[in-house]
Amino acid sequence: MKQAGGTQDLFGGPPQAPTREDLAADALLLRSFVMADAPLQEAIQAVLARSPWRQMTTMRGYTMSVAMSNCGTAGWISDRRGYRYSTTDPLTGQDWPALPPVLQDLAARAAAAAGYARFTPDACLLNRYLPGTAMGLHQDRNERDLSQPIVSVSLGIAATFLFGGAQRSDPTRRVELAHGDVVVWGGASRLHFHGIAKLKAARHPFAGEARINLTFRRAL
Ligand code: SIN
Ligand code: FE2
Repeated sequence: MKQAGGTQDLFGGPPQAPTREDLAADALLLRSFVMADAPLQEAIQAVLARSPWRQMTTMRGYTMSVAMSNCGTAGWISDRRGYRYSTTDPLTGQDWPALPPVLQDLAARAAAAAGYARFTPDACLLNRYLPGTAMGLHQDRNERDLSQPIVSVSLGIAATFLFGGAQRSDPTRRVELAHGDVVVWGGASRLHFHGIAKLKAARHPFAGEARINLTFRRAL
């Protein structure tokens, strides 16, 4: 509990308890769901040691502002041929790093909390946002089985998540996502448009001036 002017304001107080918030039909925000940072930091560093951050190109030849990597059997890629999943990392020519158990476990727990008892992701996209970067409204529709949800984990500095409807022109809800928040969407909102507004400069102990988003999906 926040006490204005009290010691909790000076010292930060205890970690926040997780809370749940409905964003739309079958779309759930689990705030402060991530409990321990160090195992996630280690797992992410191990992935990046093999498949480092890179800025991909769109079909039209633009360089994406958000840097990406992947782990798992399948990785999401974009290049002049379009968007798709690939079982090899085009940068290294090797398989993507395996999905670290700590990430698999986090995704499964979040999906279960949202009512998906047996979510076994085979793809984890890592997105790195620096201040000034953004992700335009899009649908996640390259996955084979659309009955499987999307689990999206926010780490580091905060961002404004835009969550719209089935049509690009539908109104979007603006939701502030902080470190440790997880959004799970599927079912009626599985193909809803979503994006990230341009990030404001900030610092967070998890990743300095960056926001790292992990998006888990069943792709193949
Ligand atoms: C995405 O839709 O791929 C990323 C969403 C996010 O960064 O929260
Ligand atoms: Fe997405």
